[in-house]
Amino acid sequence: MTATSKPAKTGEIKQSTADEKAAPPKSQPVARVVLVTGGTGGIGTAICKRLAQQGHVVATTYRNEEKAGAWKRALQKEGFTFHLYKCDVADFEDCQKMVKAIVAELGPIQILVNNAGITRDSSLRKMTHEQWQAVISSNLDSVFNVTRPVIDYMLESGFGRIINISSINGQKGQFGQANYAATKAGMHGFTKALALEVAKKGITVNTISPGYIETEMVAAVAENIRNSIVAQIPVGRFGTPEDVAHAVSFLVADESGFITGTNLATNGGHFME
Ligand SMILES: NC(=O)c1ccc[n+]([C@@H]2O[C@H](COP(=O)([O-])OP(=O)(O)OC[C@H]3O[C@@H](n4cnc5c(N)ncnc54)[C@H](OP(=O)(O)O)[C@@H]3O)[C@@H](O)[C@H]2O)c1
Repeated sequence: MTATSKPAKTGEIKQSTADEKAAPPKSQPVARVVLVTGGTGGIGTAICKRLAQQGHVVATTYRNEEKAGAWKRALQKEGFTFHLYKCDVADFEDCQKMVKAIVAELGPIQILVNNAGITRDSSLRKMTHEQWQAVISSNLDSVFNVTRPVIDYMLESGFGRIINISSINGQKGQFGQANYAATKAGMHGFTKALALEVAKKGITVNTISPGYIETEMVAAVAENIRNSIVAQIPVGRFGTPEDVAHAVSFLVADESGFITGTNLATNGGHFME
């Protein structure tokens, strides 16, 4: 018997044997088919990259053919392969066709990130019906349009992760964004209702509410305005698309099955509920 295999006395530190020192087996994450809407945008790109790096097969939507082609080529150079599907997420029939095509080519979708979104800012007194409707269709109708055809596949496979990308402005409101804030607040109502419906089926539904994220749009804002915004963010900086991608990767993990119906604020402490 070696000295290390003697039973440890109370208060004594027992030394490990070689067998005990062996690392515990690592569980391999399961590769799943993912759909990220609006993946060619600032935040969507970071989400697509993060989920691909985790071994998932990532499909995304686009509207602008030229932009999507350039995006795909640039990411190919970085070593990523993404599957692109032309789809207007504001159009229900288009979404049904897109989901069918993904399932036929890649397999059942088990992770869905409803990320596509637009703004059409204006104070309510000046807001046209067109501005209102465009934002409702692209940001909120889209969540129904894409989730409705996807949910059946998740129910069949007994696993699903749905993430709705909302916004801090859906929580606190924002001058000139009655349309946008309404859609982003509405998304979280959808999250909670659907989370209840599918909780027993291995499917979780959550919202992520990013604060001010340093995308091209924010980078183009004048420096004095940028500084005044940063001054309101306790963490002292804008968020990055990677901050949002990290929140997504946490919520879609197999281990996150007990987290559902929640709203994960990703805003550097800018707004706390
Ligand atoms: N950036 C921020 O600071 C911030 C903060 C909070 C929340 N968010 C939310 O995060 C999400 C992504 O924002 P982002 O900053 O990455 O925006 P972005 O760069 O403008 O990207 C938006 C993406 O959505 C797509 N899209 C929009 N409407 C669509 C439609 N009807 N059908 C199909 N695709 C559509 C766009 O595709 P095309 O270019 O082909 O049209 C684009 O790929 C949005 O939901 C936004 O509201 C952003």
